[in-house]
Amino acid sequence: MSTLPLILLLSGSLRAGSSNEAVLRTAQAVAASQVRTAGYEGLAALPHFNPDDDTDPLPAPVVELRAAIGEAAAVLICTPEYAGTLPGAFKNLLDWTIGGTEICNKPVAWVNAASPGRGQGAEATLRLVLGYTGAAIVESACARIPVASHMVGADGLITDPHVREQVGEVLAVLTDAREQAADPDRA
Ligand code: FNR
Repeated sequence: MSTLPLILLLSGSLRAGSSNEAVLRTAQAVAASQVRTAGYEGLAALPHFNPDDDTDPLPAPVVELRAAIGEAAAVLICTPEYAGTLPGAFKNLLDWTIGGTEICNKPVAWVNAASPGRGQGAEATLRLVLGYTGAAIVESACARIPVASHMVGADGLITDPHVREQVGEVLAVLTDAREQAADPDRA
């Protein structure tokens, strides 16, 4: 079994042809040999958050979500903005993390792929809600990397070499932050 750190990739978009998904797909493609990535694909299957259901036995999709976060060394989020804030489906995902401990102190970063000057409401809400979850936001890994639809190829990957490089850099900084958190004596 591989001992490479695992970065869980969380998309906030359910849309086919999503640019946020393209960022995360590209992250999987450019991930260096020092890191593993895993895309979370259960967003649409999560039930609406209800505190009455946040008890054993948990709904199966919630068990899967919390296990995926628990197994990850760090989490990378890429989400669109809808009506000035996070998509409801993604806020729902974050609500489900609060009753568990998996995300507490977990290094988390995001990529804002919106056009320049857009997406700030989603980013602000993400910061706020992650604060409630107890996640450890890695500021140095959070990035604004605008992704226009023409940058995404037929294979769903971003073709622009500079953007691909930026996505790789986010993974590298997030991995490094995670390793420093795991071993504070590491230079
Ligand atoms: C949007 N979009 C959007 N963008 C933004 O910066 N601020 C906003 O308030 C909104 N609101 C909004 C509402 C609705 C209903 C839609 C459909 C879209 C634009 C949206 O964030 C953008 O198209 C993203 O690229 C969508 O992400 P995916 O699906 O491509 O990953």
